[in-house]
Amino acid sequence: MIEAHDLTKRYGDKTAVDHLSFTVESGKVTGFLGPNGAGKSTTMRLILGLDRPQSGTATINGRRYADISHPLRTAGALLDAKSTHAGRSARNHLLFLAQTQGLPATRVDEMLGLVGLQDVARKRARGFSLGMSQRLGIAAALLGDPEVLLFDEPVNGLDPEGVLWIRNLMKQLAAEGRTVFVSSHLMNEMAVTADQLIVIGRGRLIADCSTQEFISRSSDKSVLVRTPDTARLAELIAAAGGKASSDDQAEVASSDGTKALAVTGLAAPRIFEIAAANGVVLHELTPRASLEEAFLELTSGSVEFGAHDTGDHPPGRGAGNHEGGHGAGDQPGHEAVAKGSAR
Ligand SMILES: Nc1ncnc2c1ncn2[C@@H]1O[C@H](COP(=O)(O)OP(=O)(O)OP(=O)(O)O)[C@@H](O)[C@H]1O
Ligand SMILES: [Mg+2]
Repeated sequence: MIEAHDLTKRYGDKTAVDHLSFTVESGKVTGFLGPNGAGKSTTMRLILGLDRPQSGTATINGRRYADISHPLRTAGALLDAKSTHAGRSARNHLLFLAQTQGLPATRVDEMLGLVGLQDVARKRARGFSLGMSQRLGIAAALLGDPEVLLFDEPVNGLDPEGVLWIRNLMKQLAAEGRTVFVSSHLMNEMAVTADQLIVIGRGRLIADCSTQEFISRSSDKSVLVRTPDTARLAELIAAAGGKASSDDQAEVASSDGTKALAVTGLAAPRIFEIAAANGVVLHELTPRASLEEAFLELTSGSVEFGAHDTGDHPPGRGAGNHEGGHGAGDQPGHEAVAKGSAR
């Protein structure tokens, strides 16, 4: 279990982490989400004792990291994949870590096999691709068979096979009863990997709840529908009290010649029923309350580094969030705090 209590970290006049409290429980994958610069990496460094907070505490299984006698056996972390000694081989890097913790060389070879680096074990880390470095970092994190794991954007640079592998690995680690705390910007990946979410913006807590609950908080729910008979379906939907508009994101007609409709105000089963009752053929029907939509909506007041607006955006999609000057607490996103409600 990881506990952060009232953590605050300032760099000069920049508050990177702002009175942040949360608990990461064992037996689950907990996703750590937030826009760029939200304070995720800083929080992870504070948990691992790599930075000192101005106030507050962070503990792993009830103890500060610095007070743990064999830290790699308690907590493993991948923070910066490129932080390995570039001149050392993958195997020597792990051997060095293993020796500091009294772990046998057999464990090193086991971990190299687990992450798929056995064939390049004797190559210098300098020549590793980002994905290979990520795998080496994951091997290092797992070396001491720790109960608690922290991964800062572990999916970065991994190929599709690697993405699937790490998803299953994290789930398996959680199923073994470990604490798995993972940051990522890949919302589709987090949606299928994380059981719980901790979402921060500008160093402050925005949400702390189950992934399902977070997604269901998105008010921007629509259903994507493709049919050869858009005009007829749009009429039927309007008659049933819904609203159908041509979809701006999926506007391009698909190969079967159908155009996409975005339907709001009616749930997916109701749209199916209406289509079936009136003999309208459907080619696709996809509910779209996604983690990405919920994330964009709930963090829209906390984006610091949004690209400048170049066109129309639906409300709450991060556009115009660089108006600046507001803390998360002044913004609508902050009202969405769902603290611990799924526990
Ligand atoms: N060592 C440091 N010195 C000065 N400022 C720092 C330092 N580390 C982080 N910051 C600042 O603290 C804020 C939070 O940064 P952090 O790296 O924790 O964000 P993040 O959520 O991990 O972002 P990203 O998604 O881009 O990785 C940023 O404004 C960053 O510039
Ligand atoms: Mg970061």
